[in-house]
Amino acid sequence: MATKATIAELSKHVGQTVTLQGWLYNSRSSGKLLFLILRDGTGLCQCVVEKKEPSAEIFETAERLGQESSLEVTGTVRQEPRSVGGYELAVTGLHVVQAVTGYPITPKAHGIEFLMQRRHLWFRSQRQWAILRIRHTLVDAIRRYFNDRGFILIDTPIFAPAAGEGGQTLFSVDYFGEPVYLAQTGQLYVEAAMMAHRKVYCFGPTFRAEKSKTRRHLTEFWMIEPEIAWADLNDVINLAEDFVCEIVKTVLRERRSEFEILGRDISRLEAVQKPFYRLTYSEAAELLRSDRVRKMFEADLEHAKARAQELKTLIAQKEAERSAPGVKEAKADKLAQEILDAREELADLEEAIRNIPHHMELAANFQWGSDLGGSDETILARLHDRPVFITHYPRACKAFYMKRNEQDHRLANNFDLLAPEGYGEIIGGSQREDDLEVLRDRIREEGLREEDYEWYLDLRRYGTVPHGGFGLGVERTVAWICGLKHIRETIPYARMMGRFYP
Ligand code: 4AD
Ligand code: MG
Repeated sequence: MATKATIAELSKHVGQTVTLQGWLYNSRSSGKLLFLILRDGTGLCQCVVEKKEPSAEIFETAERLGQESSLEVTGTVRQEPRSVGGYELAVTGLHVVQAVTGYPITPKAHGIEFLMQRRHLWFRSQRQWAILRIRHTLVDAIRRYFNDRGFILIDTPIFAPAAGEGGQTLFSVDYFGEPVYLAQTGQLYVEAAMMAHRKVYCFGPTFRAEKSKTRRHLTEFWMIEPEIAWADLNDVINLAEDFVCEIVKTVLRERRSEFEILGRDISRLEAVQKPFYRLTYSEAAELLRSDRVRKMFEADLEHAKARAQELKTLIAQKEAERSAPGVKEAKADKLAQEILDAREELADLEEAIRNIPHHMELAANFQWGSDLGGSDETILARLHDRPVFITHYPRACKAFYMKRNEQDHRLANNFDLLAPEGYGEIIGGSQREDDLEVLRDRIREEGLREEDYEWYLDLRRYGTVPHGGFGLGVERTVAWICGLKHIRETIPYARMMGRFYP
């Protein structure tokens, strides 16, 4: 009996005979040799079967195995720098647990809808595997950051009697005949616990009825929300800055090979160092109306048009190549994937070409008083090579719990953190209104029912102190760190408008 090993451990078994347990990811044959690419959850390994004795029988069985057949493969481990993972197995034994045919996600081209419908299988593909491992490490780093610094975890309810953020995005649920809502945030609840424990956090799923299909919005997403007592806006910003630097550093250290699979340019992440930029909302508004922004949009438009033209030519060429007589199947599959990728990029560009003039107009005519839109955030983030804090938004366009600025009552002591490379908001945070009367006025102003918030107002009646916190969206952070265009691949089972299967 050979010892069982995982692919990740192969370096410790060079020269030994081991058994790997996994699934067939891919295979190709050179006539005399069969190359089985096995995946076992820890990595990929090329397993080489020779057609001649003593492995002739194995060769014959293995040759007929379909993708995702489950296997136990025994062989001798050897170092092979040209092979995926750096090691390969010279096969001496094979046990087929299940021979599979017709696995739907083949190396052929598949569109995004096809893949999302098969999310339960798509997990097994290399890119998805890499993304969810990075997410895992990010979540672990987030928990460790707060646990190592004396924060107490407070789990907050998902059934909530009232809005935490604003009325438009509430999902309502029938709670034994009474309406309750799925929580948009745990913040109000951690504020109460903060008065008992000083430094606390909640970390769980939150829900927003986002009625638009964007690259940034899910209806169910995970948010980490720390809350600290005896703190002003600056203290909260400093915490957010240190936190983001640390979690990015950890993921970079622990997930090198996953970033390689994604082709992520990690120099952009290595540049995430203190200090981040800090701009006030008013400064950001001025920047949006500046010539610099106008020129950037103009350059974008020109670039998008040129690239779209290039892609159209490329697609036509590849189509011709694919339908030429005598093209090999593998080559045709590769071309089909490239055509699909090019079509997706072209569709994105055509959307951009339609949208840029509108985004340009929004920026040029940006009115003091309105919230920053997605395209405003994108452009502001792109103007900076490190994350940017935008602080002191107009109080009226933000949530009721934000602290009024003492120097200028029109402003809130709040911030958003914009991630670089155009990703936009990943954190929203603020100092909280700690004055009972000011807070009560804001609740009324927003048209919220005061009695729903009596318990929350108690926190301002009994020992109120300056305090604050923030919320970081896990999926937007994963999208940024992995360099993904769309948020749907950052969570195991995405929930968006029009998507709740599987
Ligand atoms: O800015 P938001 O709405 O802030 C809050 O919920 C505060 N209660 C947080 C706090 O101060 N404790 O949301 C915070 C973050 C956003 O910056 C974004 O990263 C993420 O949550 N987020 C979403 N992510 C995906 N899909 C959505 N629909 C999201 N809405 C917010
Ligand atoms: Mg926000």
